[in-house]
Amino acid sequence: MIVCSCNVFSDHQVRDALASTEGVRSPGEVYRCLGCAPQCGRCARTIRAILDQVQGSCAACPVECPAANLSTRMLAAE
Ligand code: FES
Repeated sequence: MIVCSCNVFSDHQVRDALASTEGVRSPGEVYRCLGCAPQCGRCARTIRAILDQVQGSCAACPVECPAANLSTRMLAAE
């Protein structure tokens, strides 16, 4: 599903960015990871929801994966 129509990126690209990049904590960092910048900003809430979903699901996931490691590191840094 396209999340950002201005920059044309999908929820899969957001999830891939979260799984492969350390320390992504905000929609602004997601834009930077994907090589773009917010334009109209309508997608920021959706990106935040994906961030929250990935971080929440990783906290409960027993399987080691890059996204789980990211979540663990982010929680430890807080
Ligand atoms: S829809 Fe993402 S910046 Fe406009």
